[in-house]
Amino acid sequence: QGKLKHINVILIGATGDLAQKYLWTGLFHMFRHHYREGEQHFQFYGCGRKTADLGRQLLSEILLYRLPCSDDKCRQMKSRFVQATQYHTLVTRKDYEKLARKVSENTQSIYGLQGTESTYEEGRIVYVSTAPSAYSKIITMIHEHLRPKLGKAWMKLVFEKPFGHDLESAVELTEKMKRDFSETEVYLLDHYIGKPVVQQIIPFRKLNQGLYGDIWNRDHIERVEIVLKEEIDVKDRTNFYDGVGVIRDVMQSHLMEVLVLVAMETSDSASISDTLDRKLELLQQVQMDTGSGLIGQYRSYASEQKSNANNTDFVSLTPTFAAVSLHVDNPRWRGVPFLLVSGKKMDEKSVYIRIIFKNSGFCFRKNHKTCHERKQIIFYIGGSDNRFSPMIVVSKSLLKPKPGLGWRLAEVNSEDVLLGQSMGDTYQMVPEDTTSSSYSTLIEAMYDGQKHMFIDTKCLLASWRVWMTCLTSVENRKPRVYEGGDNQMEWLDITYVGDKLEYVHKEDQLDVEVADE
Ligand code: BG6
Repeated sequence: QGKLKHINVILIGATGDLAQKYLWTGLFHMFRHHYREGEQHFQFYGCGRKTADLGRQLLSEILLYRLPCSDDKCRQMKSRFVQATQYHTLVTRKDYEKLARKVSENTQSIYGLQGTESTYEEGRIVYVSTAPSAYSKIITMIHEHLRPKLGKAWMKLVFEKPFGHDLESAVELTEKMKRDFSETEVYLLDHYIGKPVVQQIIPFRKLNQGLYGDIWNRDHIERVEIVLKEEIDVKDRTNFYDGVGVIRDVMQSHLMEVLVLVAMETSDSASISDTLDRKLELLQQVQMDTGSGLIGQYRSYASEQKSNANNTDFVSLTPTFAAVSLHVDNPRWRGVPFLLVSGKKMDEKSVYIRIIFKNSGFCFRKNHKTCHERKQIIFYIGGSDNRFSPMIVVSKSLLKPKPGLGWRLAEVNSEDVLLGQSMGDTYQMVPEDTTSSSYSTLIEAMYDGQKHMFIDTKCLLASWRVWMTCLTSVENRKPRVYEGGDNQMEWLDITYVGDKLEYVHKEDQLDVEVADE
C-alpha cells in the first residue's frame, strides 16, 4: 500500500470578498490538480464570523456560482470538492477548540480506515483572509489549537497582505510569527507576484540583457511610472478600507514589489537567497522625499463612510488616490524618479509599468527618424479592456527584444495599444496562456513550497520603512477631493516641479508624456 496524504485546508474569512472572488477558485484549482483517489485526499473547512446556518448557505452559493466548469470531468471534481467542504463559525477560543476537534476526528477516521502510521501523512494549510487587525489574535489561536498532532504532519500558514499597519506593527507581527512558527511554515501572499507579466519582469531583463542591459540606468532612463488605476470604488469593503487607504492597500505591497523587480540588480545566479539579498539591498536604497506625496479622495467616499459609520459628523481622511515619487539611491538609479500612482474610482482599470527612456543623447540607429520618437518599454499588467491585457510592449526604436518562456513576439501597430500611441510601431510580447489567475498560481506555488513566490519578512520590513516617510507626511492631511468615475481627476494632472509632485490645474495642464522634450 502506498502512502496516503490527507490535506486539511482551513480558510479563515471564507465568505469574505476575496474568498468569494478568488480564493475558492484557487483552492478548487489546487484540488483538481492534486486530488488522487487513495493517495491524496483533501478536506476543506470554510470558517468565518457568520452563524453556522448563514455561513453554510453563503458558502454553498459561492461554491455553486464561483467555480465554473465546462466539462463533465470538472463537474465531477466540483461535486467532490463541495462534498469535502464544510462551514464553521470561528470567533471565540471555544470555536477554535471545536474546529480542532472536528479536524482531528475527520482525519482520524481516514487514518483509521485507510492507513497505518507509516503510510499516513497529514498536511494542514491555514489560509487567513481577514482584516489585518485580527491577525495577531488569529496567530495565537492557530498556534494553540490548529497545529496537527497526528503522526507525520506538516503545516503551512498563508496570510494576505497588508501585513501590518505600519513598521512597528509589522515588526510586532513578524516577531510573533517567528515565536510560534518556523519561517518555512509561513507564506505572506501578495497576489501581484503571481501576475503573468510581473513574473516576466526579471526573465525579460535577463533575456534581453545584451540589448537593454547597458541602458537600464540613469544615463538612459528618464522616469519610471508604476500605475494601478481602478474603476471600482470601495463601497463593499468600507470596513476594511477606511482603516487602510490606498497607500497601505496597494502601494506598500503591490507597487513596491513591482518597483523592486524593475530596479534590482539581476545576476546569472539562480539562487533564491541571492535574489532575496538583491531585493533587500534595493529596498534599503529606496527613498521618498518628505512631502512628495499627493493624496486624493473620491467625492462620494465621504458619504459612503458616513452612512457606514452611522455618524453624520464623521470625516474620513483616508486617501483613495495617491501619487508618490520615489528615488533609488544607488549608482544605477540616482536621480531617476519612480512615480507610483494608484486610485479607486478612476476612469478605467489599467495597471502598468512604463520605463521612459531619455530621447536626447541616446539612439541605436543614428539619424534614423525613430531617434526622435519616445522610446519606452511598457509592461501591461492588466486592466478592464483588452488594450490592457497582459503584455510587454517595446517601442521599435529600441532593438527587437527576445520573447521569454511561454511568450511570443508579435509586431503590432501602436494604435492597438493605448500608451504606445506616441511611439510609432511597437513590438509586443504576449503570453500564450493568461487563463490562470494569480491567486491560483500562488496557491499552487504555496502547495509546492515555492517560498520565493511570497513576501520575504526582511523585505516586508524594509518596504514599510520606506512607506513610513510617506504615511507620516500624508497622514492627517486632508486629501484633495475628486469626482470619481468619468469626471475623475486625471492622473496626468500631476507633474513634477523640481523634485516634488504637484497637481496641475486643468487649464494649464502639462502633458507629462511629451512636455519635457
Ligand atoms: C487588492 C486590494 O490587494 O488589490 C484591492 O486590496 C485592489 O483594493 C486589488 O482592488 C487590485 O488587484 P487587481 O488584481 O484587481 O489589479
